[in-house]
Amino acid sequence: MKISILTLFPEAMQPYLDSSILGRAERAGLLDVAFYPIRDYSLDKHKKTDDYPFGGGAGLVMTPQPVFDAMAAARQRHRPSCKVIYLSPQGRRLDNRLARQLAGEEELILLCGHYEGIDQRIVDQLVDMEVSIGDYVLTGGELAALVLVDSVSRFVPGVVGNENVHEDESFEDGLLEYPQYTRPADFRGFAVPEVLLSGHHAHIEAWHKEKALEKTRAVRPDLLGEEQKPEV
Ligand SMILES: C[S@@+](CC[C@H](N)C(=O)[O-])C[C@H]1O[C@@H](n2cnc3c(N)ncnc32)[C@H](O)[C@@H]1O
Repeated sequence: MKISILTLFPEAMQPYLDSSILGRAERAGLLDVAFYPIRDYSLDKHKKTDDYPFGGGAGLVMTPQPVFDAMAAARQRHRPSCKVIYLSPQGRRLDNRLARQLAGEEELILLCGHYEGIDQRIVDQLVDMEVSIGDYVLTGGELAALVLVDSVSRFVPGVVGNENVHEDESFEDGLLEYPQYTRPADFRGFAVPEVLLSGHHAHIEAWHKEKALEKTRAVRPDLLGEEQKPEV
């Protein structure tokens, strides 16, 4: 999957992309991420990328010129049909369904805002979709873009190895995953549930299902179409 990221802070993102499963995916050629550092495209003599908002208000807003020019450069690496996503608290909430759908795109351009956000003309002219990673406000879109790249990459064939790995995972079948255990069978007197050591596949499967339902009902009844208990 080919992804281009427009950001003011590529150095904050690169180490994560170089590590662990995503780093391995890039080295294997399954993931191809390129950065377009927005400041490099500023025509201002001080490389300024933000300014005060018209009409007043707090903070600074990212100006159109550097983003438009960075986008023009990024576009050259992609098919004309490649979607542009702006990470924004005002966007569609990211979930597994959207991550799977975006993995099918094969190419994406991601735009990270910073400060108080970006000039609306950037959104109107350059952006196909706004995506949020949750109902809270971050200082910048970089963490959100990493969350998107990570969750989308897991649906790119080969990135997480075993093709069946998603089957039991949380949110598949509308359930959270059952509890997992590994060696040793007894750790300081805390034993692994007997059934998992039985080798009896039907019993293990029934136990997985029961525990997944139990957990989902306790913490995310909304996934089962049940009412969420009020928070305490
Ligand atoms: C401080 S925020 C701007 C918030 C904007 N003033 C508003 O109220 O909608 C700066 C940048 O962080 C990113 N951001 C903040 N929260 C986000 C979220 N929940 N999901 C995705 N991106 C987010 C966006 O790229 C945004 O341009």
